[in-house]
Amino acid sequence: MKGIILAGGSGTRLHPITKSVNKQLLPIYDKPLVYYPLSVLMLAGIREVLLISTPRDLPAFKDLFGDGSLLGMRICYAQQDEPRGLAEAFTIGREFLAGEPCALVLGDNMFHGQDLTRILSNARMTVENKGGAVVFGYPVKDARAFGVVEFDEDHKVVGIEEKPSDPKSNYAVPGLYFYDGQVSDFASKVEPSSRGELEITSINNAYLERGELSVELMGRGMAWLDTGTPAGMLKAAEYVEAVQSRQGYFIACIEEIAYRRKFIDSDQLRTLGEKLKKTDYGRYLISIADEEQVN
Ligand code: G1P
Repeated sequence: MKGIILAGGSGTRLHPITKSVNKQLLPIYDKPLVYYPLSVLMLAGIREVLLISTPRDLPAFKDLFGDGSLLGMRICYAQQDEPRGLAEAFTIGREFLAGEPCALVLGDNMFHGQDLTRILSNARMTVENKGGAVVFGYPVKDARAFGVVEFDEDHKVVGIEEKPSDPKSNYAVPGLYFYDGQVSDFASKVEPSSRGELEITSINNAYLERGELSVELMGRGMAWLDTGTPAGMLKAAEYVEAVQSRQGYFIACIEEIAYRRKFIDSDQLRTLGEKLKKTDYGRYLISIADEEQVN
């Protein structure tokens, strides 16, 4: 399975912070926002990732991740010239995907929770073994800013609506989607919505109409954090700080995940830590490399 991170957008909702910097490069506590969605793909066991961003911002992402080899991964890049909508990820990524199943994660979506790894591997297995698509439903107080799941009285999913003014449920669809190899074909048939965007929701509804969409509900023990406003970013940073300082484990530490998933070995992890050893982050990497060697 391959992965796509969509890290484009004009970020106008966060101006002036994002006037000259891509939102996904801004810090959430101790690391750039994009580390969080990348870590989700890695936790799904994905080693080949296409990062899509704007022509202005791609050089900065290349600077951050290079070709991915330091993480034992292959990270490729592609540009989205204009923010035409999320569904375009799959036409831009058609060649990269080459008909393989994939996971798409939006570059500003943060997930954390005990169940995450299990949820990811179930979704991956479903799509790889049975085909179709898997998306998620997450309870939110106000679902109007999202794709929203509509259920019938038997709790069967009957539709997904994009940014409804009157949501039919409080289950929002987070920016994490698993698709089989047909997704680029579906994407190329999507027409712009009334707000002029190629909606991911149209792809999801196309799978639903064929009876090939499964919507997995995420429980209240999962955190799906909002980074859409300055207050949301601050709260997300506080969440990361609170968990990390309490547990001593880092959230979305991509080097640690690469090591634990055996993408890299302990010597490679230590080398990455040495480069950052003036920071808690770097010392954390070194401590993991050392600790594993003792055991
Ligand atoms: C996008 C999708 C929406 C989804 C949301 C999750 O909205 O269109 O369906 O619920 O991401 O973050 P956007 O954030 O682009 O407005």
